[in-house]
Amino acid sequence: MKAVYIEGYGGKDQLKFGELPIPAVGPNDVLIKAYAAGVNPVDWKIREGYLRGFLPYQFPLILGWDVAGVIAEVGEQVQGFHVGDEVFSRPATERNGTYAEYVSVDAALVARKPGNISFEEAASVPLTGLTAWEALHEIAKVSAGQRVLIHGGAGGVGIYAIQLAKAFGAYVAATASGANVEFVKSYGADQVIDYTKEAFETILSGYDVVFDTIGGDVQTKSFTVLSKGGILVSIVSQPDEQLAEQHGIRTGYFFLQPDGEKLARLGQLIEEGKLRPVVSAVFPLEETAQAHELSETHHAKGKIVLSIRNAKQQAQGSS
Ligand SMILES: NC(=O)c1ccc[n+]([C@@H]2O[C@H](COP(=O)([O-])OP(=O)(O)OC[C@H]3O[C@@H](n4cnc5c(N)ncnc54)[C@H](OP(=O)(O)O)[C@@H]3O)[C@@H](O)[C@H]2O)c1
Repeated sequence: MKAVYIEGYGGKDQLKFGELPIPAVGPNDVLIKAYAAGVNPVDWKIREGYLRGFLPYQFPLILGWDVAGVIAEVGEQVQGFHVGDEVFSRPATERNGTYAEYVSVDAALVARKPGNISFEEAASVPLTGLTAWEALHEIAKVSAGQRVLIHGGAGGVGIYAIQLAKAFGAYVAATASGANVEFVKSYGADQVIDYTKEAFETILSGYDVVFDTIGGDVQTKSFTVLSKGGILVSIVSQPDEQLAEQHGIRTGYFFLQPDGEKLARLGQLIEEGKLRPVVSAVFPLEETAQAHELSETHHAKGKIVLSIRNAKQQAQGSS
């Protein structure tokens, strides 16, 4: 099968496009014939070797941890999925990724693809959608009427977080650069602060939840935005516990554990029209290096997706 992989850590010149064997299908796995794969910052962070301390990979390593496609084979213990099912998934980080024509995934991490979106759109949802779900629903437990600030509103996680917070009935503020203010509003943000011109911490106060997808100073300045008892959830670094105590707020930090059942709930929200996939750039698999280059700018808008089988091949069910 064709795949994009690395044989050592480093820059985007490490990305190789070539032939690798179709992966084995374990008893609890499904083999997905991939039509599209999402690109996320974790892909190039792993490529660079930043996560080598706690993710001991072997080479060649296929990158990418978002996929949408059709089931081509089902492991002997798998129930509920069949050959031909259209699915999407955020596979386990510990295994080979999704920049490939086939990917073997634990069936517990797979969900049916919503019928009202394309494969490219479906591949844009799992990793960032599940991250936003975990932060806002599982950890912050956002409820109707709460005030929620989402940093990095134009990014892959932020744009789904805004929509989920709105679906939960919250008032949503977000930060973005001026060029993305209208884009972020169009996905439901009630108030958008252009962080290049205004200091959010001087404008906002009394918030129940801050979701930090940026880290650093942005995280530190977020403490004063929260009211006592509020929560600061970060996906970049653990917020300072002493500062949290001083301000009387709670904190949360996590590395996403994927889950097919939660993904199915996101799929339901998509089918109900409450969550819209946001794909701003699609590259063919051979051009993965350009996709990484865009992601590495820290200014990608919405999601970047790799097309693994084009529309004609999808229609033909090409192998
Ligand atoms: N812990 C986990 O499980 C987990 C899961 C997913 C992601 N992450 C991490 O979370 C971070 C965000 O992920 P992502 O997929 O959303 O990244 P992304 O799509 O690359 O985010 C890019 C966005 O960040 C915005 N941005 C950059 N600087 C900003 C600032 N100072 N203030 C506000 N917005 C700013 C940009 O908007 P403008 O162009 O308008 O500036 C751009 O739209 C990454 O570091 C990623 O590795 C962690």
